[in-house]
Amino acid sequence: MSASLSQDVLLVVYSYHHGNTAKIARAMAEVLGAAVAEPSEVTPDDVQKARLIGLGSGIYSATHHESIHRLAAELHPASGRDAFIFSTFGAPGIAASPAFVLNNHSKLREILQSKGYRIVGEFGCAGFNTNSFLHWFGGLNKGRPNDDDLERAREFARTLKQKLHDG
Ligand SMILES: Cc1cc2nc3c(=O)[nH]c(=O)nc-3n(C[C@H](O)[C@H](O)[C@H](O)COP(=O)(O)O)c2cc1C
Repeated sequence: MSASLSQDVLLVVYSYHHGNTAKIARAMAEVLGAAVAEPSEVTPDDVQKARLIGLGSGIYSATHHESIHRLAAELHPASGRDAFIFSTFGAPGIAASPAFVLNNHSKLREILQSKGYRIVGEFGCAGFNTNSFLHWFGGLNKGRPNDDDLERAREFARTLKQKLHDG
């Protein structure tokens, strides 16, 4: 991986429930050689320097965390630069179609597109969920993200990396 690529990719993640989305971010970052930060650690100027950005969090009430939305809303106009979106969700796997993932990403996608970002990929996977009453039943999606999920995240990142090189 070139030094410039490693400085060109920034992942911003908010992951407070069980650190599920942070695990996904780290797996992607390994492949992309990306920096990983929380929303409070980056400014719009930092984000503007990156050639590719990835924004992600757990899904809370069917959307990303407000700190991710807020950061996206503060970004400078991007004029066609590349962004990807990722998340982990707590719904049981059976309920989680690709459309479910895209639906959870709608608000963040709209904000990024309104800033002029081109969305080059979206990734979602199950994450351990003990929200509310689920806590009393041992939670949903125990052990997720698992090794397979992390490998899918790496594979997603490899595809993005290829696009960057071709790009
Ligand atoms: C307050 C709260 C609300 C949640 N709302 C949803 C939801 O609407 N849909 C869903 O699929 N999962 C929901 N979840 C489950 C989380 O999306 C899931 O556990 C996720 O992996 C958490 O990511 P994190 O550990 O990175 O914070 C919710 C969890 C919490 C704590």
